[in-house]
Amino acid sequence: MESMTKVWGEVDNQPVYLYTLRSGSLTAVISNFGATVVSLNVPDQTGKVVDVVLGYDTLEEYERNNRAYFGGTIGRCANRISNSQFTLDGSVYHLTANEWPNSLHSGLSGFHMRVWETVSFTNENELTLRLESPAMDQGFPGNLEITASFKVTDNGMTITYSGTSDATTIFNPTNHSYFNLNGHKAGSVVEHLLRLQANYYTPVENARSLTTGEICNVLYTPMDFTRPKTIGSEMTPSFRQLLYTDGYDHNFCITKYNGDVMEAAQLTGDQTGIRLTLKTNEPGLHLYTGNYLTDDIGKGGAHYYKHAGVSLQPQFYPDAINHPNYISPILHKGETKTFETQYLFDCVS
Ligand code: BGC
Repeated sequence: MESMTKVWGEVDNQPVYLYTLRSGSLTAVISNFGATVVSLNVPDQTGKVVDVVLGYDTLEEYERNNRAYFGGTIGRCANRISNSQFTLDGSVYHLTANEWPNSLHSGLSGFHMRVWETVSFTNENELTLRLESPAMDQGFPGNLEITASFKVTDNGMTITYSGTSDATTIFNPTNHSYFNLNGHKAGSVVEHLLRLQANYYTPVENARSLTTGEICNVLYTPMDFTRPKTIGSEMTPSFRQLLYTDGYDHNFCITKYNGDVMEAAQLTGDQTGIRLTLKTNEPGLHLYTGNYLTDDIGKGGAHYYKHAGVSLQPQFYPDAINHPNYISPILHKGETKTFETQYLFDCVS
């Protein structure tokens, strides 16, 4: 397996590796820094292999510059928590307010910034990483142990997160990859076709992007992706929700959610015909169209401008811990919860 493992550098005296997972003509490059998806190489209709995720070439860039969270594993809690606080079993917990006064993706030293321990790398296609998050890490109660497993098959990649804690806490992990199915350096994704299995979404209050706590119907609004349409076709600031966030930056409620793995989204690259079907057992899918990318220089010197990639993040609804009408992201003491995301690829002509 040596040839598939490369030393990438060191963070806090801990070695950081790049692992290449392979099955058929699909490869994924994963780092134990942040349990990060660095590259995902998928064949197009002609057999040409295309890297479909945005990212950086060097560990230093992930360490110093990853404000966009390219490819990282987000935890303990994805998305925003209002006023960076919540109450659990009668105690109030305070988090880092990295988007004052709110917390985004659990603060500045989230799981995407940690060096994960490698548990196993087997059969060239399966990697398991582990992280121990001590009690009060980021402000959350409970010693949480989390594993993230990446498995590549001939037609896709599955990420499985498993978490267990010795005290009741929040467990809401996701992966923050940005996809461009025309290739990571191909420019804008606004012509990608998108279909979401979501009849409802959660609106935001204002430009700070906190949820209002409502659940709204997508019908007759630009939020309606129940039938495939291009991402850009109705992305207009005349719809106030899209004015606030300068594009899509919203959680969609997966219609048939019942805790089983099911389709949440289907995305097709207009130039390559590469189609991604995303399946998950989490209740929501956050759609973020890279609105705040501003000429970030990425892999191979690529310029990632606004809308250079689209991030599809399976997760619990935003700020669910503070909204009892949203499905609870709580992990009870001693319980183990497992979340799975399948990224499946094929090509359409
Ligand atoms: C959030 C955006 C944020 C971005 C990068 C996304 O998950 O929804 O609002 O700007 O991450 O920081």
